[in-house]
Amino acid sequence: MVKLTNNWYIACTSNELKNKPIARTILGIPLVIFRGNNNKPTAFLDRCPHRHIPLSQGWLKNHHLICRYHGWRFDERGICQEIPALCQQNRDKKRNAIAYPIIEQDNFIWVYCQPDEIPQSQPYKFPCLYEKGFSTFTWQMQCQTSLENAAENFLDATHTHFIHTGLIRKDGQRKEITVKVTRHIHMVEAVYLNEENISGWIYKLLAPGCQSVISIGRFILPSIAQLEYQTDNPNYKLFISLFLTPVQENLTQAYGVATFRWGLPNWLGKIIAQPLFYLAAQQDKYILELQSANINRFQEVNFTDTEIDIMRPHINYLLQKNGIEKNSDRHLPKLEKTVKMRV
Ligand code: FES
Ligand SMILES: [Fe+2]
Repeated sequence: MVKLTNNWYIACTSNELKNKPIARTILGIPLVIFRGNNNKPTAFLDRCPHRHIPLSQGWLKNHHLICRYHGWRFDERGICQEIPALCQQNRDKKRNAIAYPIIEQDNFIWVYCQPDEIPQSQPYKFPCLYEKGFSTFTWQMQCQTSLENAAENFLDATHTHFIHTGLIRKDGQRKEITVKVTRHIHMVEAVYLNEENISGWIYKLLAPGCQSVISIGRFILPSIAQLEYQTDNPNYKLFISLFLTPVQENLTQAYGVATFRWGLPNWLGKIIAQPLFYLAAQQDKYILELQSANINRFQEVNFTDTEIDIMRPHINYLLQKNGIEKNSDRHLPKLEKTVKMRV
């Protein structure tokens, strides 16, 4: 697992964080998250500095976190404010919990996975979320797979005929299309130029009467896989974003955000789209876990690529570079490329 710790990741939804500490793991780092002073979210390493009990097993008292073993009390900065059995309450840095930068934004709790750093970036902003006229629904799913495999799967048009037969695309109705792939420092984008009518009925339901649909797939650092759909009607827009929080090696928590302004009333679009998206997510989970189990069985990854496996080399590249690109890197792999494929 590539460990890009100097980034913001979704740890949980705002609703999941109530008045109890909860445990979450990001990039293999166990965290305790709770609401401290003024209900502001707080994240510590899930390990009491005293005898290493998980702090997530403790409880809250006046918005401070109490360790369940000897009752050390930590404030929202992680500073140990009280050791109940100690006669003289003096301060020592070593007694403090390790605190991580944390922000509540767009109904998600975001943690910056580098405790000793002032973040130079902001959490990801989902496009058009809460903009006038747009509607949104969210979901989440855990999958035994790597971030790379999950992102590739979500952005791969060529599995949809088989894994989501009829739902997204149909085999037997293929057409040669042109895909333009462009990589920037923080993201890679694939524009499916002349697919026009996507054959599955998900589009027929969601975009009645639309003559052409252009889909765009993006992978954005640190871990966002996103599909955007545009039609001949400029008012219609649909974004499906998956924020893929890498929990640990081969375990990924996907937070899905679908934001749309479409031909149907938004409430109806939601009723139709939600179960279909959920079904598609289950189908992807099935195939990704099958892939993981087999990789595990063979104890080896030896993938064979063709030129239409367009996203994976760029996903790997971006994760390796983490937004830092030297001039000498710029030719590897290609920054812009046009490929033909049959979808
Ligand atoms: S282990 Fe936490 S107070 Fe002792
Ligand atoms: Fe899929």
